[in-house]
Amino acid sequence: MCPHTGFVKYFLPFNKLHIYPWNFNFSLTGSPVTLKILQNWVPRVSHYFDKEHYTYVGHQIVIQESIEHFGAVVWPGALALSQYLESNQEQFNLKDKKVLEIGAGTGLLSIVACILGAHVTATDLPEVLENLSYNISRNTQNLNMHKPEVRKLVWGEGLNEDFPMSTYHYDFILATDVVYHHGALDPLLATMVYFCKPGTVLLWANKFRFSTDYEFLEKVCSVFNTTILAEFPESNVKLLKQWDAQ
Ligand SMILES: C[S@@+](CC[C@H](N)C(=O)[O-])C[C@H]1O[C@@H](n2cnc3c(N)ncnc32)[C@H](O)[C@@H]1O
Repeated sequence: MCPHTGFVKYFLPFNKLHIYPWNFNFSLTGSPVTLKILQNWVPRVSHYFDKEHYTYVGHQIVIQESIEHFGAVVWPGALALSQYLESNQEQFNLKDKKVLEIGAGTGLLSIVACILGAHVTATDLPEVLENLSYNISRNTQNLNMHKPEVRKLVWGEGLNEDFPMSTYHYDFILATDVVYHHGALDPLLATMVYFCKPGTVLLWANKFRFSTDYEFLEKVCSVFNTTILAEFPESNVKLLKQWDAQ
């Protein structure tokens, strides 16, 4: 069981439940991981899972899912925000903007942000970084765009050391389906607050499942200015814009 996620089977996307094993454990230590050294890396467990194909902003994106963690499959929030950014490029112009994704998982949304012209840093737990790096590398290496970066970022841990305020300022923070039943909701909120400085916009899309998800939403709304950008009633996904931690 992953100590950070409290990995529990029934939280997985519905279509993955029947094939998702949970007894594999490989880890990656050290940070940051750069894409350059991982360009030829192929997931050791690729034969267990399908590749998923997506098209955003006229680009085919192939996502290798793996069998490891919550971050191993694409979640509904990532699809919702990817589609929203593709359809609202004038409202949210990512070109040359600095974008940080927290809990990036398979990397789909970071890849879309990259295609839209952003300087992207995709982050997640150490054990998710191999597959994340692989997906980002294979989908961006032949394109003429800012080279994305993949780094470890454990919510609430070592932020001042790894992302000092004096050096790092992001225009956008992206977060999708980072709220579910896990024990790191307070560190997650602290991480959002840490990176949301004046001028930063947090775009957060989440499928709401549990009462604790709504409690987190209330907390977030008490800390940030909040607008609901879109709602998808059929999947219970909300997409929110947040800014200026009060
Ligand atoms: C439900 S998945 C969503 C993945 C991706 N954003 C998506 O929508 O497809 C939650 C993500 O948060 C990451 N995560 C969970 N706890 C974390 C923590 N304490 N620090 C950093 N990332 C964490 C997981 O590894 C996973 O990638």
